[in-house]
Amino acid sequence: MKLDAIQAAAAAQFDKQSQNYGKGHILEQTPDVELALQHIPLRAGWRALDVATGGGHTGLLLAARGCEVTLGDISANMLERAAKLGAERGLRVATRQFPAEAIPFGDGEFDLVSCRVAPHHFSDPEGFVREVTRVLKPGGYFLLIDGSMEDGRPEAEAWLHQVEKWRDPSHHRMWTKGTWERWCAAAGLTLVHSELQPMKQPDLEWYFNAAATSPGNRAKVCEAIRTVTPAVRELMRIGKEDGKTVWWWQRLILVARKAMR
Ligand SMILES: C[S@@+](CC[C@H](N)C(=O)[O-])C[C@H]1O[C@@H](n2cnc3c(N)ncnc32)[C@H](O)[C@@H]1O
Repeated sequence: MKLDAIQAAAAAQFDKQSQNYGKGHILEQTPDVELALQHIPLRAGWRALDVATGGGHTGLLLAARGCEVTLGDISANMLERAAKLGAERGLRVATRQFPAEAIPFGDGEFDLVSCRVAPHHFSDPEGFVREVTRVLKPGGYFLLIDGSMEDGRPEAEAWLHQVEKWRDPSHHRMWTKGTWERWCAAAGLTLVHSELQPMKQPDLEWYFNAAATSPGNRAKVCEAIRTVTPAVRELMRIGKEDGKTVWWWQRLILVARKAMR
C-alpha cells in the first residue's frame, strides 16, 4: 500500500491508538448515524462499504441492519479490533485495508458508502468523494459525517484547525459544509440532506487522552482556549461545567445520491 505523508501519519497514529476507539468510546453512540439513515431507504442485503471504519461503530450498525458490510481503514490494528468487536456481536463483516483516496473496488459495486468522523485526516478529500461516486451503484447513497463548520467563519476555522493539529498531529483539515456540498456536486452526486449539528465535547481530558496528546501540546491547547477571542468563544460555546472545560463542535451530517443512470 503506497501512502503519502498525510496518510502515513494517520496510519501510524491510529495503529498506536486503536485500543481507544472501541467499546466505551463516544463514537459507539450513533444517534448521528441514525439521523442520517432517516434519509436513506436502507434495505437488508444492501452492499455497504464503511470507509475509515475506526472502531467499526458505523459499519457494524449497518451489518446489524442486515447489510453486507465491508469495513475499510488505513490502519491494520483498527480493522483487527473492529472485526473482533463484530465477531463478539455475532456480526459477519469483511475487512479491507486501503486509503480512502484510492478505494480498491470496481465501479458501481455498492448501494451505500459511509464515512464518519474521519475525512479530516484525508490528504485528498475531494478525490475521496470522486472515488465514493465511482464505486457507488447508480442510485446508491453516500453517508458522510464529520466535524465541520459553517461557511464564512475563517477565524474560528483557523483557530480550531490549530487546536486540532496540536491535539493530534495526524489531523489534516476540517472542511466547511459548503465545501463538502460543492465537492459532492462536482463529483456528480445529488444532495439529499445536509445539516450541521451541534455536538458537545465531554471534556478536555477525554479529548487529549483519545489522541495521546503530548504534555507540551496539551499546554498549548489550554493556552489557546484561555486566550480565544470572544467571537470564537461564543461560536464554540467554550465554558466550564463541574470544573471541566466543555465546548461545542459542529458535526456535518450529509447524505447524497448518485444518479440512477
Ligand atoms: C475516529 S476514527 C473513525 C470513526 C468511525 N468511522 C466510527 O464511526 O466510529 C478515524 C479513522 O480514520 C482512519 N483514517 C485516517 N486517514 C485515513 C485515510 N486516508 N484512509 C482511510 N482511513 C483513514 C483512521 O485509521 C481511523 O481508524
